[in-house]
Amino acid sequence: MHVSKRINKIGVSPTMKVAAEAKLMQSRGESVIDFSVGEPDFPTPPNVKEAAVRAIANNQTRYTLNQGTIELRTAISNKLNKENGLEYSTDEIIVSAGAKQSLYNTIQSLIYVDDEVIIPAPYWVSYPDMVSLAHGQSVIVPTTEETGFKITPEQLKKAITPYTKILILCNPSNPTGSCYTRKELEAIAKIVEENNFYVISDEIYEKIVFDNFEFVCFASLSDKIKKKTITVNGLSKSYAMTGWRVGYAAGPENIIQAINKIQSHSTSNASSVSQAASIEALKGSQDYVEMMRKEYEQRRNFLYDALISIKGITCYKPEGAFFLFPNFTNYFHKSTHVFRIEHSFDLAMYLLHHVKVATVPGSAFGAEGYLRLSYATSMEDLKEGVERIKEALAQLH
Ligand SMILES: Cc1ncc(COP(=O)(O)O)c(C=O)c1O
Repeated sequence: MHVSKRINKIGVSPTMKVAAEAKLMQSRGESVIDFSVGEPDFPTPPNVKEAAVRAIANNQTRYTLNQGTIELRTAISNKLNKENGLEYSTDEIIVSAGAKQSLYNTIQSLIYVDDEVIIPAPYWVSYPDMVSLAHGQSVIVPTTEETGFKITPEQLKKAITPYTKILILCNPSNPTGSCYTRKELEAIAKIVEENNFYVISDEIYEKIVFDNFEFVCFASLSDKIKKKTITVNGLSKSYAMTGWRVGYAAGPENIIQAINKIQSHSTSNASSVSQAASIEALKGSQDYVEMMRKEYEQRRNFLYDALISIKGITCYKPEGAFFLFPNFTNYFHKSTHVFRIEHSFDLAMYLLHHVKVATVPGSAFGAEGYLRLSYATSMEDLKEGVERIKEALAQLH
């Protein structure tokens, strides 16, 4: 007996391979500096934790509406209105167990055999596999450092076919941290308006932007665009709530209700306690969010300056998220007496085993030549990690 053919279409998340090896080394007591993490290193804000404790004491421990409690969906609707200038009724919003589930269910709702999904690369690792699981086809569009790893209108036009059903935008981006300006989004929106496909706008890093960068929610660009956009967002990154598993999608009611159907036959509602805590996160003081944002900005500045001062490394200076995506190709085709570096995976393994620094190879995101370095870690570790990388690179000839 075998697993289904569907499973052979997808791989284990490659980010997890390096992370698993790093964890194993840590469990053996080795001092690994971990730049591979994709989650905030801050604890959840105290007011949010207290709200969860209250919810348990008040017996908010039963099933909620499959789509999420009215209170949380109202809080999300108010957030979208106040922060993004968008009007959504609670029927046009669904709460799920993380943004990942919202993305998965949106793709399941829209994609079937032969449908195409345009995905700019570097992309977040799960998008192509989610498309495969829905029997769709990913159309990967490679972008370059020169355009800030953003898809250009010309590239988008070229990628459109009669089968195009979705364009996925990740803004701010994981893994590059780059953000689309209003002008860039408007140019994309013009093409979307002229064609017949949807946009999934993954805005999970919305609140982590630097240097007063104006984050623009894609759906807010016009009424026409709003009708073609499913905005996916969540609390994991903005509120340091990765373990609570709360995300949401907002979009046209027929799509949200399709997602609702799928969710009703898989996980049902997101955790009732987490939903109660999320209401407090959205409605309570946002000071903690700003504290984290400022801290990430300082770390980005430090890590960016430190990396580009290393000979042979170039790096796009990102406007958001908590990742840098430096280019290491100048160190490819070099060796020590034991290691030879041909690809980003070799380099990630070399750094892990030689100087105990965990990173994620660019190949995991569909972009060879790069490593993703997360700075959701202490300044102390950033300093030590960069020194180790410098030392390891200096030994490659
Ligand atoms: C771009 C992007 N989208 C979605 C997610 C999923 O977040 P969650 O399911 O924790 O809400 C992540 C998490 O790493 C992410 O980086």
